[in-house]
Amino acid sequence: MRAHPAGPRHGEIPADRTSVVPADLNDLDPAVWPRGARRDHGVMTLAGNDVRDLAALYGTPLLAMDEQDFRSRCHDFADAFGSAADVHYAAKAFLSSHIVKWLTQEGLSLDVCSGGELRLALRAGFPPERIALHGSNKSQHELEMAVEAGIGAIVIDSFDEIGRLAGISERVNLEAGTVNGSTRRIPVMIRVTVGVEAHTHEFIATAHEDQKFGFSLAGGDAAEGVRRIVACHGLELIGLHSHIGSQIFDPSGFEVSAHRLVVLLKSVIADHPRLAASITTLDLGGGLGIAYTSADTPPPVDAMAKSLTEIVERECQVAGLAVPRIAVEPGRAIVGPGTVTVYEVGTIKDVNLDGGVVRRYVSVDGGMSDNIRTALYDADYTVVLASRSSTAPAARCRVVGKHCESGDIVVRDCYLPADLAVGDLIAVAATGAYCYAMASNYNRLPRPPLVAVADGTSRQLLRRETDDDLQLLETW
Ligand code: LLP
Repeated sequence: MRAHPAGPRHGEIPADRTSVVPADLNDLDPAVWPRGARRDHGVMTLAGNDVRDLAALYGTPLLAMDEQDFRSRCHDFADAFGSAADVHYAAKAFLSSHIVKWLTQEGLSLDVCSGGELRLALRAGFPPERIALHGSNKSQHELEMAVEAGIGAIVIDSFDEIGRLAGISERVNLEAGTVNGSTRRIPVMIRVTVGVEAHTHEFIATAHEDQKFGFSLAGGDAAEGVRRIVACHGLELIGLHSHIGSQIFDPSGFEVSAHRLVVLLKSVIADHPRLAASITTLDLGGGLGIAYTSADTPPPVDAMAKSLTEIVERECQVAGLAVPRIAVEPGRAIVGPGTVTVYEVGTIKDVNLDGGVVRRYVSVDGGMSDNIRTALYDADYTVVLASRSSTAPAARCRVVGKHCESGDIVVRDCYLPADLAVGDLIAVAATGAYCYAMASNYNRLPRPPLVAVADGTSRQLLRRETDDDLQLLETW
């Protein structure tokens, strides 16, 4: 398997994604583009902002995020899951101080998976009790920071971590001079490897033990982990957690995972009856998919929420357990669809392929430094000419970056109008998740600005990096 689970299903990369020529190259499929994306006299506008104005103001490449799109997807999740569930935004998809503020206002919870994400969230004023900390190798310092801040849960990932946390809890209680009766207990969940691998359209229910995350359910580690957590007076087990993959379209993987978590919950409560009151949450993780192209058909959030809620209720009923709170951790599904990357077209080069076919290489002023997903996962994207419309015929294209590497591909197979010219602006859809978050300075390119657009106005959430920024670490 060459591709990552977040890419095409199980690495089945279609040999040629360009077999179908789009009926209208100017079309903006609402399933793929931000909710505020339109064409006005042929020019793409984002929440009322002409992309040419954005490019003139901030330069290219730039990421434009439709603020209302982001906020409305937060509402969609909160409404769909209702008051019996907690929606944690997964910070790893993209985080900035403004995003933290929007999440605070929208009432969501937050997942972080490093000290850096946690520090930013705390500094931007996010309520610590609504934060959960993930990570397969949390440092002593990260754990201490989380405990000191009083975050809502630490999702324990290993036996080592139980030991580290037990030590921290002992120290904290010693310093606070608490006696046994009033021990401050650190709220924790346990990450269970449920043996389910799910992405896009498929899942495998007997696979995926061979990876670094969590405690294996099948191997008995999860039960042993619970036993050790329970034995530690300073830890309070408040939930069972699993995360089965990313870019998932089909709830059946969650069904198997929820079933296995509920079976575990039942046996844990049978062994430790007092946990019936303390384990309040069943966290099904993130992974809800989005449409990168019109061929992608993720289920609507309310349908997914209904399925997940029904699955957990049914499984608990069968097991004779009270239904716990459900938690979900969407990252991509909230931040992915509302952002587009705007590039300026530079070099255009036609390359002759076998059989007299021509592929037009369209070079842009960014590339794998602002979007590594195509190179890394063979991810597919939708791209259009944005600074004008065109009635020219379709040309078979590949959008490539400016990096010194032939794998520097932004959109592998696409059609763009044949009259595309140097200086045109093109826009790539659904780049809000895991693009800026995974950006690099490869070839010493500065990271692009991230601009929020709303109601005909724009403002930078993150400015473009400068050469001075890039040289900040030099000791000369
Ligand atoms: N919760 C946990 C424990 C996770 O590990 C992840 C993602 C999420 C939630 C959020 O998943 P989402 O809803 O965003 O799919 N870099 C890859 C994706 C890696 C996802 C890692 N974990 C990509 O670009 O597709």
